Amino acid sequence: MTTLTQYLNNHSTNTAVNETIATITEVGKTIAQLLRRGALADILGEAGNQNVQGEEQKKLDVLANDLLLDALASNAHCAGVASEELDNSTPAHADGSLLVLFDPLDGSSNIDINMAVGTIFSILPYQRQGQISVDKDFLQAGNQQLAAGYLLYGTSTMLALTIANDVAMFSLDPDSGDYVLIEEKIQIDADTSEYSINSSNYRYWRAPMQQYIDELIDGEAGVRGRDFNTRWVAAMVGDVHRILCRGGLFTYPFDTKYAHKAGKLRLMYEANPMSLLIERAGGGATDAVNRILDIEPNDIHQRVPVVLGSKNEVAYVKDLHLQHAAK
Ligand code: AHG
Ligand code: MN
Ligand code: MN
Repeated sequence: MTTLTQYLNNHSTNTAVNETIATITEVGKTIAQLLRRGALADILGEAGNQNVQGEEQKKLDVLANDLLLDALASNAHCAGVASEELDNSTPAHADGSLLVLFDPLDGSSNIDINMAVGTIFSILPYQRQGQISVDKDFLQAGNQQLAAGYLLYGTSTMLALTIANDVAMFSLDPDSGDYVLIEEKIQIDADTSEYSINSSNYRYWRAPMQQYIDELIDGEAGVRGRDFNTRWVAAMVGDVHRILCRGGLFTYPFDTKYAHKAGKLRLMYEANPMSLLIERAGGGATDAVNRILDIEPNDIHQRVPVVLGSKNEVAYVKDLHLQHAAK
């Protein structure tokens, strides 16, 4: 049996990264405990305000955000924190070597119905040690991430983590309180027959995405020549977890539902950390055409279309987009 602490010691010599992952995963235990008590812990329902994204905050969005913020503020390696729920980044220790970004609670619409939710995190190097961090310091491409991962609060609590080149999966032992390693080098099959999309947005998609989903629905009777299956958790953490477990394609594509958004998901808190996990597990992660990890961000809250998962399927979506662009 290998615990997270032992795994970190064996796989990374970066003490700052290791201790920061320890901080985040300790908070994960608290969030998991709160979720287990649910209504009894008075964590369900609305917080009564909107976040910087213009979304209604749930009590647990705010709580999870504050727990992470407090814990990271006490971590001397952390030079600053950026969260989906906060307007601006929060400076921490100027001498720290790391910046931490997170979606404290992913899948907010699942909280009140006792379904899977998660926490997504991304760790970047801090380039101006000794000075107070500002938003601009966080504007680094995803390929600069030192580590990334998520906590999934499902029927059990799991951690997916990538440091160095591997993606490892841990399960939280509720008795010992240890995250126990269950798989060390996750790899995703290149082909899949499962896809994940909120189809109610169909009329807002671009033509190549409409064509792609039409082809999947046509299944055996259409150009793909085989049937596909839809799965949608409504929490990216859940959908990405399924893909790491058994392959699949997840997309939240470009849509015209809200003119000012290029898609729903956030580059720095959702797309980048998930893309690092998926690529390291042998999958693909694009905005339909371009590699997500190479996007140079210009805003910490920037949104991006996301197509990720089994490599051949992600490539197929890209080809369709390129064919349409060439017309
Ligand atoms: P968040 O709860 O952090 O705002 O993220 C929710 C995201 C993502 O997890 C999920 O894939 C998607 O929103 C679901 O959106 P809709 O069901 O509203 O389409
Ligand atoms: Mn989210
Ligand atoms: Mn969130």
